[in-house]
Amino acid sequence: MKDDFARPEVVAQGVQAEERLQPWTGETKLVGKALPRVDAYERVSGTAEFTCDVVLPDMLHAAILRCPHAHAMVKSVDTSAAEKMPGVIAALTSKSPGADIPFYVPDGPSASPQSLLFDPHCRYEGDEVAAVAARTPYEAFDALKAIKVEYEVLPFVLDEASALKPDAPRLHGSANSMGEPQVMKRGDVGRGFAEADVVLEQTFTTSVQIHATMEPHGSVVRWDGDRLVVWDSTQGVYDGGLFDLAAIFKMAPTHIRVICKYMGGGFGSKAELSKHTVIAALLARQTGKPVKLMLSREETLRAVGNRPEASMTMKAGARKDGTLTALQMTSVTTPGAYYFVEMFGYQVAELYKCANVLVSERAYYTNAGRARWFRAPGFPAGSWALEQTMDMLAEKLNIDPIDFRLRNLTSVSQTEGNKPYTSTGFRECLTEGARVFGWAAARAARKEPGHIRRGVGVAGGVWMAGMGSPPYTAEIRMFADGCVTIRTGVVDIGTGTKTVACMVAAEELEVPLETIRIETGDTAVTPYAQVAGGSMTLPGLIPAVRGGARIVKQQVLPWAAEALGVSERDVVIRGGAFVSRTSADKKKPVQDVFRAHGVMDVVGIGKREPNPTDKVVRPFAAHFAEVEVNTRTGEIRVLRLLGANDSGRVINRKTFDNQVVGGMNQGLGYALTERRVMDRQTGKMCNANLHDYKLPTSLDVAVDHQVVPIDPHDTECNNVGCKGLGEPAHVPAAAAIANAIYDAIGLRPADGPVDPTTVLALLGKQKRG
Ligand code: MOS
Repeated sequence: MKDDFARPEVVAQGVQAEERLQPWTGETKLVGKALPRVDAYERVSGTAEFTCDVVLPDMLHAAILRCPHAHAMVKSVDTSAAEKMPGVIAALTSKSPGADIPFYVPDGPSASPQSLLFDPHCRYEGDEVAAVAARTPYEAFDALKAIKVEYEVLPFVLDEASALKPDAPRLHGSANSMGEPQVMKRGDVGRGFAEADVVLEQTFTTSVQIHATMEPHGSVVRWDGDRLVVWDSTQGVYDGGLFDLAAIFKMAPTHIRVICKYMGGGFGSKAELSKHTVIAALLARQTGKPVKLMLSREETLRAVGNRPEASMTMKAGARKDGTLTALQMTSVTTPGAYYFVEMFGYQVAELYKCANVLVSERAYYTNAGRARWFRAPGFPAGSWALEQTMDMLAEKLNIDPIDFRLRNLTSVSQTEGNKPYTSTGFRECLTEGARVFGWAAARAARKEPGHIRRGVGVAGGVWMAGMGSPPYTAEIRMFADGCVTIRTGVVDIGTGTKTVACMVAAEELEVPLETIRIETGDTAVTPYAQVAGGSMTLPGLIPAVRGGARIVKQQVLPWAAEALGVSERDVVIRGGAFVSRTSADKKKPVQDVFRAHGVMDVVGIGKREPNPTDKVVRPFAAHFAEVEVNTRTGEIRVLRLLGANDSGRVINRKTFDNQVVGGMNQGLGYALTERRVMDRQTGKMCNANLHDYKLPTSLDVAVDHQVVPIDPHDTECNNVGCKGLGEPAHVPAAAAIANAIYDAIGLRPADGPVDPTTVLALLGKQKRG
């Protein structure tokens, strides 16, 4: 996982090295304010064009036939009847010309693809078998039913215990193991446990969570001769779009255009190219017409990714004074039918100071939908285990959970050779979060004699990416009327990227926010940016935006100063004119100044500068929860949540709060209700719909939800001082809720999600024994 986020660093261009920008030190005019999104009107009025809104002349609609079995070999596919169905224009199978496309290439040098676009070996209920294009979506779905497929149904495995059996059905090659365990080791845990006054051991489990993005996955594809235009609901128009399509179709990247103007959530499930986009492209080529392929809600729950379940056994030791002496995690996960590995144990090795650490993680193939990156892959599960373990240790040592954490803080990155962090606000996340939450009072008041029990919990977290690294490009163009356009190839996946980019450009150029426009997510128009993932977009892109704005200033301010006969510092742009700050009568239209220099616009290309090499950039979080547990019904109500996040400088307080509230509520679902249910008899997913897959609704979330930004005034992470937020806003939330449940009922909710059945089972166990 780690390597996926490590990008090559490039030398910064544009901004001269000798004047590397420093974060603002004084008062900022716009940055830090709570402002509505620049595209708020489009979003709430329905005029924002999402992929599913794209309608092209003569467009066809496609649908995918998926394997209905957990494990099967396709013996034959007959589309002849389907092709005669009303409205059907084309069918596509593994035999169609050009359909022989490899998919799912695992990491590593000896990597070979694990699947084909339509692989005869179907490894889960949902693998793609064939597709059709028809005049309407209904005709397409109807036609799927007329495709005759002969399957050889195979035995399947759903869990690691069965996957490990010598006679277990095999998904790939000769073993169901996804390779050797991933190990992280520091010091000697044996010695650490020997030095401890308290040692405990506990296994924690988490269930499969589905991304459940508001906007389903889908693409609209049009061929213009040998050129390909793709509208895709994607987190990346370049990586995960253009470059992958260019490789698949052996085309020059310049012959491909990928567009994503508005996006309704991805959480990692839209961070790589999906099969459906390629299927739409093949059908469009075959029919010579544009093709739209939007997945159904059911398909999005079954077939485009999930957060895999985990079983994590923790062993931990500490001294009486609260010093951690050893942390050990052994994890097993089943990320489904195709290779995917995540790190549950990174935080075990990074978050708290501990000399002796051992993490060992294994993964096995099962006949289930494949895991994909999902909002801090591995970390919410890792928190579930580590942060409950921290609470168990604190209780054994009779130390307050916050005090215990405070006794084990570190200012260096233990997984990066003990390099210091550029900043860590983790201490303040804990202390300031506790103060605003009213931790001490809530702890003291927590036990109630009746059947409604209240409890409070805390959990800490760190995210291993969230520093943002080159390359990102932002083109800042000032027009002759003084208005400015930002172009950058990022996709605003709903986080508010466009808004914060405009705010930073306006801040740097000292122009009104309304004079800035932004174009994103269109490879024909906008320069390169990385996929919107890893909580990298803000700290990756925004410094490049500021750098580009600075270059514009460097070009136009000397011209303006000369034209007005004042110093550069005295010039400001107002109402399409350069104006002196000190004597307002000195002014000249921007256009006149530009024309005098033979231009009608001035462009600054901002490139993300390299990160410091001697220090490590990490965002931190401490999340707090107060819950009420009904010991008669097992119901859990989350009364209060508080997120204290150190993601450096807050650019927009509104979008910051959006991320923390949204991220923590996704954690609430992970803690209490969200789980994929597989049928052990058939190997099929039972709850591939939003009725039975329980996302939190407005009735479930905490009415009282506070957000406490912790800004450590990081001057070294980048020229803005911001760190990533989207993922650390989610990481410890579920664990905080679990700790609050323990505080309420005195029973450890080790297995998530904790629903009423789990609570009653815990209480029953306690009663019996
Ligand atoms: Mo996020 S899981 O890096 O899209």
